[in-house]
Amino acid sequence: MTSTEAPRPAPGPGRIRQNAIYRAGVLGRVPSVPTDAAELERRARKAMSRKAWAYVAGGAGSGATMRHNRAAFERWRVVPRMLHGVTTRDLSTAVLGTPLRAPLLLAPVGAGALVTRGSDVRIAQGAAAAGVPYIFSSQGSSPMERTAAAMGDTPFWYQLYWSTDEPLVDSMIRRAEDCGARALVVTLDTTLLGWRPQDLNLGSLPFARGLGIAQYTSDPRFGEIMRDRIAAAAGRRAERPRVTLAALRALLSMAREYPGGTGANLRSAEPRAAVETFLDIYSNPGLSWAHLETLRRRTTLPILLKGILHPDDARTALEAGVDGIIVSNHGGRQVDHAVAALDALVAVRAAVGPDPTVLFDSGIRSGADVFVALALGADACLLGRPHIYGLAIAGADGVRQVAENIVAELDLTMALVGVPDVAAVTRELLVPAP
Ligand code: FNR
Ligand code: LAC
Repeated sequence: MTSTEAPRPAPGPGRIRQNAIYRAGVLGRVPSVPTDAAELERRARKAMSRKAWAYVAGGAGSGATMRHNRAAFERWRVVPRMLHGVTTRDLSTAVLGTPLRAPLLLAPVGAGALVTRGSDVRIAQGAAAAGVPYIFSSQGSSPMERTAAAMGDTPFWYQLYWSTDEPLVDSMIRRAEDCGARALVVTLDTTLLGWRPQDLNLGSLPFARGLGIAQYTSDPRFGEIMRDRIAAAAGRRAERPRVTLAALRALLSMAREYPGGTGANLRSAEPRAAVETFLDIYSNPGLSWAHLETLRRRTTLPILLKGILHPDDARTALEAGVDGIIVSNHGGRQVDHAVAALDALVAVRAAVGPDPTVLFDSGIRSGADVFVALALGADACLLGRPHIYGLAIAGADGVRQVAENIVAELDLTMALVGVPDVAAVTRELLVPAP
């Protein structure tokens, strides 16, 4: 045997996924979930209600930030190398002690219940089937303990929105630790919700209908705050909302989402009190570095800060002892005309140097996008809206397919460019667009 006659390498995730799809195609079956972002979005939109689409696909103001996020990818070109002999790739990596099958995690996305009931558990099942970790949202639609149980052996993290009630912050952290989260992601960019015309024009806020507050309604500290409010209000004459069809629907939605039976909940003051309590204490607009300093002694988990865009904020975060940062503009949902997240990634990586953990999201739509973000300095990427579109089209299996498609395309891109592992995906493989 000469040195060019190597044994046939085991197929990577790219070939495996292609083969599965093409084999089924011979029998006349096409994938139930489209394999590209544009068609995925189109099909998801058809599968979603107007309010769900507005919330998930919508962004801040004119949508410029979302466009910037995508346009930034167009400014980089991959330069494939030839005759490199790379026959197998190792996509695995580890981030702050969490092993990853591929440099991909599912981003925290709130109010998935708009898309389907039991959304978070279904996403967890899809993530586990694909072996891709999932970051549970503070605005989740199932208690984190239930979602954790659906993850099996696949790791998960917990994303925290910092409430104005400090004991509630501690309670959420404790629960995340107890149910097995491997890291804590503190999202900084949503101390208030951005100006979102798609939702505003429909007068639609999922939380106000009891959707996406399950981490709160399952929390003992939240229960205390809520019952105190109910007791305090008992003396006063309750302000009665005007009875309209929409108001009745909202009450029904709150009763359905609240723990316990819908019938009993309809007769209880709690579901509505829960929504009002949540709206009062949701996120802390006064969040500052002083709050962050307290975090280190409040948890044993690695801490990542999500929503960093400025290099100085990245430096300050690391100096403050944070374990990692996530460069993100929240998918363009917060500030209109904001810097593209990919441009911020380049600046942040340059500022902090090669060693600190830097993750990236906002605009990832394909495996080739992940490749570019890795080359520009990300250690791993978070997949946001696309996994929700998979959920809308085909439930848990839709989430699995979307995640597997991204990993498959990343693997094929690495194969065709000639890189054997994630560490070898570097800036030298790119040129700026002419
Ligand atoms: C989000 N995102 C988000 N982030 C977070 O930390 N906590 C949350 O609860 C939510 N909720 C949420 C809801 C919806 C509908 C979307 C689309 C996004 C932001 C999310 O984690 C991620 O940063 C973006 O989705 C990335 O942008 P793209 O790639 O989806 O455009
Ligand atoms: C959002 C919040 C929940 O983007 O993060 O809607």
